Amino acid sequence: MSNGLLEGKCGIVFGALNSDSIAWKAAEAIHSQGGKVLLTNAPIAMRMGELNNLSEVIDAPIIPADATSLDDLNALIDGAMEYFGGKIDFILHSIGMSVNVRKGKHYTELNYDWLQKGWDVSAVSFHKVMQCAWNKDAMNEWGSILGLSYMAAQRTFPDYNDMADNKSYLESIARSFGYHWGVKNNVRVNTISQSPTPTTAGSGVKGFDGFVAYADKMSPLGNATAEDCANYIVTMFSDLTRRVTMQNLYNDGGFSNMGVSNMVMQQFMEGEG
Ligand SMILES: NC(=O)c1ccc[n+]([C@@H]2O[C@H](COP(=O)([O-])OP(=O)(O)OC[C@H]3O[C@@H](n4cnc5c(N)ncnc54)[C@H](O)[C@@H]3O)[C@@H](O)[C@H]2O)c1
Repeated sequence: MSNGLLEGKCGIVFGALNSDSIAWKAAEAIHSQGGKVLLTNAPIAMRMGELNNLSEVIDAPIIPADATSLDDLNALIDGAMEYFGGKIDFILHSIGMSVNVRKGKHYTELNYDWLQKGWDVSAVSFHKVMQCAWNKDAMNEWGSILGLSYMAAQRTFPDYNDMADNKSYLESIARSFGYHWGVKNNVRVNTISQSPTPTTAGSGVKGFDGFVAYADKMSPLGNATAEDCANYIVTMFSDLTRRVTMQNLYNDGGFSNMGVSNMVMQQFMEGEG
């Protein structure tokens, strides 16, 4: 269903890898609400070629960019402004990767070269994207910039490993840069903290199925899906949320405010009553 919430708006979506990706669903939802999208992902992710399918369906060009490379990001912002014929209204940073998670390194034995790589990709790239857009004065008044986070930034999930620290850093960048963007030209910057979601990045975390099932049983509304997240992203890019900024916004079915649920309790009370 379209309400035309993003009619007349245009922007960049980072991180659509395949049809499971949160960014993929977001790009589809933005398009269906009348927004114009330019897609980008790391050149290496493009090799699989799946992004071309999305590009055709939603009529969105693709400009490859490694989000850790300032040269790539500058070329991307230039390309977007050229394609849209001026400034843009929204940026979705939907990027995450930890080499330590990928290689199964325990948190107590982190490889620091890998840690730096994951931090750069997952957190610092958010700053880099915003700095490039800032230097080129690329954002329209009342624009909106979003990153995606996870509850492990606030609470401990041992197997989320160094991604927990990366998410804390990402959320902090949203607050710090959000101040400057607000003062400069009323642009808002937020992170959405999403339920565990079965995607390529999500499934790479050890014990992921356990995370998903536990969170679902703990959350009164159940886990938020990638489509739910896409809809939230649409509202955050729309004019209905103009003064929401510097926030970490939970899209998690209530999980973040739960202590314990009856469903989870039941698992520990077998044989009683
Ligand atoms: N899946 C979950 O459970 C979950 C929960 C909360 C938050 N998130 C966050 O949502 C975001 C999107 O992840 P997803 O779950 O859709 O998984 P995904 O694997 O579909 O997306 C991750 C994307 O990051 C891109 N990427 C990696 N390195 C890059 C680089 N150097 N430059 C540019 N792009 C790069 C990948 O190509 C991929 O498209 C991430 O920030 C992730 O941490 C995911």
